[in-house]
Amino acid sequence: MCYAIPGKITDIKDKIVTVDYFGEIKKARNEFYELNPGDYIYAQGGFVINKISNEEAEVILETWREFFFKLKEVDLKLTYDTKTLHQRANAVRRQNTDNSCCVHGIVEFSNYCINDCLYCGLRKSNNTCIRYRMDTEEIVETCENAVNKLGFKALVLQSGEDFFYDDEKLSKIINRIREKCAVLLVMSIGERDLKIYQKLYQYGARGVLLRFETNNHELYKKIRPGHVLEDRINLIKSLRDMGFLIMTGFLVGLPEQSEADILSGIDLTGTLGTDMFSFGPFIPHPQTPLAGNPIPDINLVLDTIARARMRFPASKILATTALETLDKKNGAQKGLLAGANSLMINVTPKKYQSLYELYPDRAGIESDIEEKINLTLELLYSLGRAPADIGI
Ligand code: 5AD
Ligand code: SF4
Repeated sequence: MCYAIPGKITDIKDKIVTVDYFGEIKKARNEFYELNPGDYIYAQGGFVINKISNEEAEVILETWREFFFKLKEVDLKLTYDTKTLHQRANAVRRQNTDNSCCVHGIVEFSNYCINDCLYCGLRKSNNTCIRYRMDTEEIVETCENAVNKLGFKALVLQSGEDFFYDDEKLSKIINRIREKCAVLLVMSIGERDLKIYQKLYQYGARGVLLRFETNNHELYKKIRPGHVLEDRINLIKSLRDMGFLIMTGFLVGLPEQSEADILSGIDLTGTLGTDMFSFGPFIPHPQTPLAGNPIPDINLVLDTIARARMRFPASKILATTALETLDKKNGAQKGLLAGANSLMINVTPKKYQSLYELYPDRAGIESDIEEKINLTLELLYSLGRAPADIGI
């Protein structure tokens, strides 16, 4: 591309001249003129089409200088302005993944946890949290209903890190669910022994949801006492190598998280070979050591989704429940229009939903499950998205 303004020749090699346009360097092919460095030329289509005098060129350039930089500024702003960043990411989403949108169900079967993550309402030190465990039959029935009555094709089974569910119990649960329904099962049970995961794979689980929470080693150590990031990443890699689909990502807006952390977090999510990206805002819980920290601006989360979409164009990216919580009316829509192409619906029995309080005031728990499904379908249809797991 050449500009329609004179450029100054800075170098000549055979027929190729190097041309300077207000500091921007381009090349052009000269087939018609005697040229020397310092001469001014017009180029078009990569060819030198005219040579003009230095005096004439300098007058023209002086009148163009300000406008030239102004145009650049506007172009830059429109390209990277966050509003258009979301729109561009949405276009990239469409180009690469068309209009299908995964809608997985999630069953939160236990809110017990042996860990004490500083950000989480289920941390073991939160003794205001009323704990529950669903038994095998209840879990199987819940899944049966979600798959055979509500139409879900993929379910996430989530709990705190609860060792009450050992390999035998978990295998039995998976086995029983698979006897009753055809469904992709994704385990979200935290850092458990590789042998357990191996067994769950044998029994038919095919996905793991395990966020690395933050890719900042120091921050990780602080907010997950007794744990190091390396172990988490190695576990995710081993699970991927075992054949599990991987859903991972990090919390956006944690205290002390920098913009560079977010950008390298996106990179790490992609390079882990992630099948579904999950970025959710950190929402402070009043009964945790991080209470009192600010709730992040929704745009920080939307920008993260959009940047991930631009960086990994063909990925599946979740618009999380925590994002919906930041803007209950439009959060999911905003996520989908910023590059996301996946949603999750909570299919846990109603009586437990409010007890699974990772953070306060979670979206989705106010409506009943059928209503939530209808609202989700309505939203997807209004955006021209085809739900890939329920509905059509
Ligand atoms: N805000 C948002 N997300 C949270 N999680 C835990 N606590 C919070 C919080 N306060 C998320 C973590 C975890 C997932 C199960 O819930 O990212 O991986
Ligand atoms: Fe437990 Fe997960 Fe909460 Fe940490 S984030 S306390 S591991 S439920």
